[in-house]
Amino acid sequence: MNSITVDIEKLQREIDALALITEATPPVVTRVLFSEADLRGRAFVKNLCREAGLVLREDAVGNMFARWVGTDQNLPAVATGSHIDAIPNAGKYDGVVGVLGALEAIRALQAAGFQPQRSIELIVFTAEEPTRFGIGCLGSRLLGGVLSLERAAALRDCAGRDLEFWLMQGGCAGSLPSVKLAGDCYAAFVELHIEQGPLLEAENLDIGIVEKIAAPSSLRLQLTGVGGHAGATLMPGRRDALLAGAEIALAVEHAATTSGSLDTVGTTGIFRIAPGAVNSVPCEAYLEIDLRDTQVATRDAALAQIENRAAAICQRRGIKLALQRVNVDPPAICNAPLVQTVEQVCHKLQIAATKLTSHAYHDALFMAPVCPTTMIFIPCRGGVSHRPDEYSSPAQIQIGVRVLAEILAAV
Ligand code: GLV
Ligand code: MN
Ligand code: MN
Repeated sequence: MNSITVDIEKLQREIDALALITEATPPVVTRVLFSEADLRGRAFVKNLCREAGLVLREDAVGNMFARWVGTDQNLPAVATGSHIDAIPNAGKYDGVVGVLGALEAIRALQAAGFQPQRSIELIVFTAEEPTRFGIGCLGSRLLGGVLSLERAAALRDCAGRDLEFWLMQGGCAGSLPSVKLAGDCYAAFVELHIEQGPLLEAENLDIGIVEKIAAPSSLRLQLTGVGGHAGATLMPGRRDALLAGAEIALAVEHAATTSGSLDTVGTTGIFRIAPGAVNSVPCEAYLEIDLRDTQVATRDAALAQIENRAAAICQRRGIKLALQRVNVDPPAICNAPLVQTVEQVCHKLQIAATKLTSHAYHDALFMAPVCPTTMIFIPCRGGVSHRPDEYSSPAQIQIGVRVLAEILAAV
């Protein structure tokens, strides 16, 4: 094989072009699962994969697989990939670097004359982001078999539409049980991603090698109080759903900050009220809460505390509470030999790297039980992510893609 050259100008042009496919006004990127923008984004990526001569397939939940067929098709493939869906008000690098960067890694290997023995497969996962259904990593959960078909069928978006509705919109075909991967289908999975944290930039490092992915969980709460006229309903005896929700949001902050673990993070990211009139007491409140930690024990204790406090607050305020645990996941431990392979590659290329824990979740969390898994992080400016000003430089992306290409060839 000749030396591997990453065409960063081409890759940056593709990242910029995908960022213009958005439900929002650029530079804001919003691509919610199976929205018109998400569908156009998927078509854009599929087209590039076809141009690279990859063989495309899609499963019943819309996960996309683009395969560079190896010379020995009896060997399990090596997989890479990430997501292109984007939360409201996002930037252009989260997930995308791991999809278009992986494609460029494959093209760079092709240009270097590498002949893969194992097939190399780029996976574009469906709905890593929880925006549509409140649950993250929908596609990889189904691939890993950790989301039951009953739970999948029960998923509803904020307008009450189910997964079946959205799969039709997405043009997906096939049966959901067929999505689950066989245990021996991949030799490894390596996801390239921006760090979404400040460590690499602060320490002037080029690469983070992920050893562990923190344990996420989330809750949905529907609060029903009693509405009424804001002038004529006197304060004693009010049953204001917003005020109960506000107390619950504070209880989330309290549980996270007093858990005893610096890694516990709690966020009330969605808080809607009805009827939403300035002169009307809120009769309904809807909250979605995100709670994570690197340690299960402190995460679970904080989760229980939030649930107990929510029940007590609602009882005291005369509010009806419906609380649903959407997901409570374990952390993922990455594969030690694969982590070592990434370390060796970085050492060989004289790239400054460190091992770290991912506080964000990723599809790799659900690939880890399926096959040996790790992630390659590149720095992002100020550790900023899930914001339009998210940024990694072309030079930083180029290094990440170079390392990924070496790994794909080495496994
Ligand atoms: C992924 O987007 C996360 O919220 O960690
Ligand atoms: Mn994200
Ligand atoms: Mn992501």
